[in-house]
Amino acid sequence: MPLVDTKEMFKRAYEGGYAIGAFNVNNMEIVQGIVAAAEETQSPVILQASAGARKYAGAEYLFGLVESALKVSTVPIALHLDHGADFETCKSCIDGGFTSVMIDGSAQSFEANIAITKEVVEYAHAHGVVVEGELGQLEGIEDDVNVTTGSYTDPDDVEEFVSRTGVDSLAIAIGTSHGAFKFRPEQCTRNEQGVLVPPDLRFDILEEISQRLPGFPIVLHGASSVVPKYVEIINHYGGNLKDAIGIPEDQLRKAARSAVCKINIDSDMRLALTAGIREHMAKYPEHFDPRQYLKPARQNIQDIVAHKIRNVLGSDGKAIDV
Ligand code: G3H
Ligand code: 13P
Ligand code: ZN
Repeated sequence: MPLVDTKEMFKRAYEGGYAIGAFNVNNMEIVQGIVAAAEETQSPVILQASAGARKYAGAEYLFGLVESALKVSTVPIALHLDHGADFETCKSCIDGGFTSVMIDGSAQSFEANIAITKEVVEYAHAHGVVVEGELGQLEGIEDDVNVTTGSYTDPDDVEEFVSRTGVDSLAIAIGTSHGAFKFRPEQCTRNEQGVLVPPDLRFDILEEISQRLPGFPIVLHGASSVVPKYVEIINHYGGNLKDAIGIPEDQLRKAARSAVCKINIDSDMRLALTAGIREHMAKYPEHFDPRQYLKPARQNIQDIVAHKIRNVLGSDGKAIDV
């Protein structure tokens, strides 16, 4: 099946009360693990590549891996640029066959964000590609920019931004954040076992935005739950991820039932992959063939993505819909 764009995926996800997972790809094992999980669960899926991923793997190699996935899979797959920083990066992906791009002008002023987003939308739409914009700033790392004080999306801005830019979907800030350390301990409470409990997402802001943009697809970045099982394995086998913390899965599930049609997940796969490698290396110190340790790591990617599809996104069995 050829690459699809996300228009139909989002329409059905909106109506059906589920969300599509957008999983970051950086190498062959990650692409294979995600696509195997989408196949296993019969779910549509978005493969997304950051500028860093294209630099690491090489844009041609990365695209080639996705093309290979299309040959062996039966589920709908979209290819999306994650956090496009400028027009040139978006243009290069549009020209190179991506079906969706994000232009991330969220760190710029409202007017500058509108101007750059509109420029990308005009070029993308002329080439049959859809565009995600962003309003509001997440904390954490966004493409080499380390944001220490995020700002929630202001619902008063969204109608003007969408109508003036023509974007197809909008990423908003309601308390999610990038990476494996989403909240500082002082932002959390602790339960009786001393485990950190993060603050709730701002569902009031999400609700207000969805009322102002009826039927419009909303995107959540920074939506890994930082699965404790993998953090524990990493720490058990020599890692040091003290106070790693993510978004509770029940909150993400609630978001997926609402206007949120796309949920971005990268850190949970990084943790699953690293846990698989660390565990294997510790148990089999005599191994040095990459296939020996990358095989369980790739299986971990498949397991975590299938878990997300079934328990967070609710997109299992929806491949047939698109
Ligand atoms: O939002 C950021 C994604 O996790 C991609 O991260 O720029 O390190 O590839 P990256
Ligand atoms: P996480 O770091 O929570 O996985 O978020 C990834 C992301 O938003 C990619 O754009
Ligand atoms: Zn992101």
